[in-house]
Amino acid sequence: MKTEIEALRDPAARLVILTGAGISAESGLSTFRGNGGLWDGWPVEEVATPEAFERDPALVWRFYGERRRTAMDAEPNEAHRAVAAAERTMGERFLLVTQNIDGLHEAAGSRRVLPIHGSLWTTRCTGCGRRRPDRELHATLPVCERCGALERPDIVWFGERLDPAHLERLQAFLLRADDDHVPSVFLAIGTSGVVQPAASFVRFARACGAAAWLNDLDGTAENAPLFEHVVPGPATRVVPALLAPVG
Ligand code: OAD
Repeated sequence: MKTEIEALRDPAARLVILTGAGISAESGLSTFRGNGGLWDGWPVEEVATPEAFERDPALVWRFYGERRRTAMDAEPNEAHRAVAAAERTMGERFLLVTQNIDGLHEAAGSRRVLPIHGSLWTTRCTGCGRRRPDRELHATLPVCERCGALERPDIVWFGERLDPAHLERLQAFLLRADDDHVPSVFLAIGTSGVVQPAASFVRFARACGAAAWLNDLDGTAENAPLFEHVVPGPATRVVPALLAPVG
């Protein structure tokens, strides 16, 4: 079993990392799918769609309030720290795309981050669209100070589009590596490969010539066959080893 990504030893190499809930599991945060996953207790269609919020905003806020309460006490782990260290070494040759809303990458020091599914720590007005930092556990529904409309969690729900600027940045990064003929690597960590479009980023990365690596606890991610290298095991052990050349 390979334990490090040798291509990263090349001083021109570029790296895209895509993370999912699995990277935060060892920080004590539940993943979404699998035994005891969040979606077992909270059906997606009741808490993570725009229709759910229209029907019962209090229930949706309760779900995200619960996420805030648990994430507030969580600390970044060795895998988050290894990702941040790779960015410090690689600078502009590095890009992190995360589906996580917990803020643990930023807490570990990551800066070149595209939080494609939004953030648990900002709130967005359904009327004027104003975003504001917000760490409260709301007992009553929050309303916008500026326009008085209901505020919502700043999350990209099922049925909503990702920010096109995020997708453009990811594509431009991978295309440039291809144009410059430098080695590039796409590494996915702790994501089940079920939710689109993130589950398909690996296809685009490979079409741009990137070598595709996956770390998943048991290697059973749905899109695992799309990767050339699948390294099972807990992210806190596997990720620092994979990234050792740039750690
Ligand atoms: P999932 O819960 O679907 O998948 C978590 C993955 O992490 C699984 O493949 C696990 O095997 C793996 N895993 C668990 N513990 C791990 C560990 N210690 N080390 C390495 N891997 C581990 O979470 P996501 O793929 O992130 O979207 O889910 C994608 C999106 O679906 C989420 O962003 C969320 C959800 O619905 C929204 O809410 C919009």
